Amino acid sequence: MVVIAVAGSGGVGQTIVEKLLQSQFDVVVLSRSAKQDDTSSRVRNVQIKYDDIASMTQELERHNIHTLISAIGLVSEETSQSQLNLIEAADRSASTKRFIPSEYSFIQTSDLLSIDPSIQWWLDAAEFLKKSSLQYTRVIPGFFMDYWGMPKVKTHLQPFTFGIDIASGTAAIPGDGNNVICMTYTYDLATYLVKALDLDEWPEFSIFVGDEVTYNQILGIAEEFTGKKFKVTYDSLEQIQAGNVTVPTQPEGVDSSSDDLKEITALVSRLTVNNVFDLPKDRLSDQFPEVKPLTVREFLHNAWYQSKA
Ligand SMILES: NC(=O)c1ccc[n+]([C@@H]2O[C@H](COP(=O)([O-])OP(=O)(O)OC[C@H]3O[C@@H](n4cnc5c(N)ncnc54)[C@H](OP(=O)(O)O)[C@@H]3O)[C@@H](O)[C@H]2O)c1
Repeated sequence: MVVIAVAGSGGVGQTIVEKLLQSQFDVVVLSRSAKQDDTSSRVRNVQIKYDDIASMTQELERHNIHTLISAIGLVSEETSQSQLNLIEAADRSASTKRFIPSEYSFIQTSDLLSIDPSIQWWLDAAEFLKKSSLQYTRVIPGFFMDYWGMPKVKTHLQPFTFGIDIASGTAAIPGDGNNVICMTYTYDLATYLVKALDLDEWPEFSIFVGDEVTYNQILGIAEEFTGKKFKVTYDSLEQIQAGNVTVPTQPEGVDSSSDDLKEITALVSRLTVNNVFDLPKDRLSDQFPEVKPLTVREFLHNAWYQSKA
């Protein structure tokens, strides 16, 4: 049986593993920490050391890993280096043929570096993969829809509010609210990703989109389903450019400092008004019409409509 390994046991990694367990593949989770195998699950947990390429190569061969899906949270030089080392180990491993780098966002290109310098980590991984003998694809779902259903929906993502906080009936929207945002629920992305494992050829970018929406449309649906008139502010392009953004009300469980919240909000606002989430129409999701991803309206209905009563 083909063995698929998922590196990183955070929000995205756990979701992909859940979907893999419904497939025909053997599933291995690679993690920095030792985890006991759960006898009720067929997942095999393997501890790896990201700073030791030779030992990682051995582990990949020992477990006969054919395809590696990275779900490492790229948040620093250190995490980026971990992923580069993992790519090198996969390239050296005799059993490993395919690699999906941790992206799961918009199409990161060098012309966006002035907006978001951390894009370099994603570009480095892609460059490294291009030079390797591995087959690879960069998986692009746009924004994860989960953020607008928290805390009502099933999700492994960390809580955070972007733009509209439906629970409190408030919104701090970047620009005029009419930028198109492609969105996908994490579980739908994982379904598509597992389907793509069966394809013989992979495109450079595997774009999977659940729905396209604007903040103003989400706001309209949220007001309809909750029966509340939201308190809304719009940040101008000048405010966003200057980093002088309005941080939306955050859900419980967010422990970032107010400076960090402002920085994250400013970054995502700059990306949004630059239309990075308006993804190209050439989408791999179109190859899988049997998958019926949640639309934003269905997703918000599931999360918020019942709570009206
Ligand atoms: N488009 C969107 O809306 C969106 C939203 C969220 C995330 N994402 C993307 O999805 C990807 C995964 O995000 P996530 O939220 O699942 O990340 P996360 O929960 O922050 O972290 C994922 C895992 O990375 C591993 N890790 C942490 N530090 C590491 C290090 N130094 N070296 C190697 N591994 C390390 C950890 O797994 P172990 O402890 O098991 O080693 C951790 O659980 C990222 O590329 C992120 O940008 C996109």
